[in-house]
Amino acid sequence: MKKPTRVNHPPAVDVQADNHPLVAPIYQTVKFEFDSLAETERFLRGERPGFFYSRASNPTTRQLELLLAELQGRDDCLVTASGVGAISQTLLALTKQGDHVICFVETYNPTRYLIRRLLGRFGVTHTMLSIEDVAGVERALAAQPVRLVFFESPTNPVTKIADIEALTRLARAAGALSIMDNTFAGLHQHGGYEVDLFVHSLTKYASGTGDVMGGAVIGRAELIRGMRSDFSALGGMLDPHAAFLILRGLKTYFVRYRAQSASAARVAALLASHPAVARVHYPGLQSHPQHALAARQMQDFGSVVSFDLAGGSAAARRFADALELFALTASLGSTESLVVTPQLMGSRELNAEQQRISAITDGTIRLSIGLEDPEDLLTDLTRALSAVGS
Ligand SMILES: Cc1ncc(COP(=O)(O)O)c(C=O)c1O
Repeated sequence: MKKPTRVNHPPAVDVQADNHPLVAPIYQTVKFEFDSLAETERFLRGERPGFFYSRASNPTTRQLELLLAELQGRDDCLVTASGVGAISQTLLALTKQGDHVICFVETYNPTRYLIRRLLGRFGVTHTMLSIEDVAGVERALAAQPVRLVFFESPTNPVTKIADIEALTRLARAAGALSIMDNTFAGLHQHGGYEVDLFVHSLTKYASGTGDVMGGAVIGRAELIRGMRSDFSALGGMLDPHAAFLILRGLKTYFVRYRAQSASAARVAALLASHPAVARVHYPGLQSHPQHALAARQMQDFGSVVSFDLAGGSAAARRFADALELFALTASLGSTESLVVTPQLMGSRELNAEQQRISAITDGTIRLSIGLEDPEDLLTDLTRALSAVGS
């Protein structure tokens, strides 16, 4: 074999079946082959297990899918290149022209965009309500056949809580699928509810370190099986190296989520007692209007704390600039603390009534609490709050 040939066919290293790596290898390969055409044909006919092309499946991404399904308490999962990829591919796989979808004002902006604009272009109509309007959902389900109800809880950014039992019960009775973006609550929560499909941004708590993007849709085997070909054809599969990084992140998921939730609770309490703060949005606070519902549905309340500064937009600007430990940028759930100001939130697409429902004011700040020492974070926040008052 000449050397240009050899570099394309390097020596094989066999690991014996009784010699196990503690961390599974990254299958950083696009293609897999079988020993013969006959075996390849058997695989393609579904008569034997295996892997062929990584856009359809790969052992590293498959390991992540199986782990995520188990964490969320479901049978199966598909992973995608981002959280929005999981949402868009799920919506495209499940709807067709003439379908109707129920969605909510308080939902993550790009999800609303996908339902209103993208699905709208393909003749899928929608009703958009407040997540608190359960009676409105019941009316909308009675008014016409509905393909799916898409909601999240806690909502981004003001942490409103969806009544998951009521929404899933009503959807199921009307023959609609319930799809829940569970990114804020995380993979270990809400699995006991009869949600048909969970979607997650793995970019947030799952990877945890803010250095990799990913998404997932998790649900019953037959639902996921029905979506697999569409996902493969749409082409937004997660890369095996990203899957490996997310698998690595998940090892510390529970300690991170709980430590960040504990620090967030302390931050929420500090903010609630400060005169510059008009209102705090944190489901773990007794003063949260849906605290009882949150406490029934969740064990951990998460790292996102939002609040309204009494001084509005100018105060928000002074506050964000005065913070030293919080990075002024998007995302949440990673190890470093983050802040987003009202100048970077909200949506021009909402009418006045929808703006009111969204509860984002010109003084709304969203914090994501990281893994720094909580005392340092409290000191930084106290200093920035006094800059607002001065
Ligand atoms: C609730 C929620 N869903 C989905 C996403 C999208 O995730 P990604 O950035 O991985 O596409 C985000 C991102 O902020 C989010 O907050």
